[in-house]
Amino acid sequence: RTVYVNGEYLPETEAKVSIFDRGFLMADGVYEVTSVLDGKLIDFDGHAKRLERSLRELDMAAPITMEELLEVHRELVRLNGIEEGMIYLQITRGAPEDRDFAFPDPAKVPSTIVLFTQNKPGLANSPAAAKGLKVISIEDIRWGRRDIKTVQLLYPSMGKMMAKKAGCDDAWMVEDGFVTEGTSNNAYIVKDGKIITRQLSNDILHGITRAAVLKFAEEAQMVVEERPFTIAEAQAADEAFITSASTFVMPVVEIDGTALGDGTPGPVSKRLREIYLEESR
Ligand code: PDD
Repeated sequence: RTVYVNGEYLPETEAKVSIFDRGFLMADGVYEVTSVLDGKLIDFDGHAKRLERSLRELDMAAPITMEELLEVHRELVRLNGIEEGMIYLQITRGAPEDRDFAFPDPAKVPSTIVLFTQNKPGLANSPAAAKGLKVISIEDIRWGRRDIKTVQLLYPSMGKMMAKKAGCDDAWMVEDGFVTEGTSNNAYIVKDGKIITRQLSNDILHGITRAAVLKFAEEAQMVVEERPFTIAEAQAADEAFITSASTFVMPVVEIDGTALGDGTPGPVSKRLREIYLEESR
């Protein structure tokens, strides 16, 4: 695989980042995941805008313009022959001379930028979409700025492991009795044809797929209600699903051991997945 590190395209085995990098030592970094379908980037502008916002919120300098970043994305897709898959991008506050809690002077320490591709043939035709996911609920103990896409992913990783241990696929996180989001996706339920998902705030990541799906849903005359919901309400819903750049729209068929409807992906979830894959290509 050819990867991109600080201005250079290199074989992955030759790519290097300092052991003093603040991304490595302090999770002081932000990231984006953009999907590729038919060799084309999905929603690059949305991801670039959210990246700029994440950087701004953390007082971090962008080491590259968004136009250059688009070129790097395209070049990596081309060099690695990606038809279906993802591009991972990470920017950290760079590698100062020593470990220190205070941010280094950005004039002296440039930020680090890394991009790599993940080839996922069949991503859009995933068998998981036909089967649907089983989720468990766990407490949301993450920090209060989940709207910033930082690389602090230890708790979401632990949540994924808790789900696996329970024989499930993913975990929905719950705060003050209400679902915030999935470990790496936004969460939705459908009741009487109405799509319900938590409103945007600092409590959740502002999903790029979420924005697109809600727009497509409204264009298709579906009713969308943006408000928090509980696990009990989700278990009593007709259907549920998640969205993210790596899963698109993915049906959820079981929550904490309770099957939704007849335990198979619901019609609204299936239709939204079809619409999303059609419209965003
Ligand atoms: N995750 N919520 C969380 C906590 C996420 O990590 C993600 C994305 C989303 C969905 O955002 P988007 O639709 O922009 O992908 C919501 C990425 C895919 C990841 O960590 O791999």
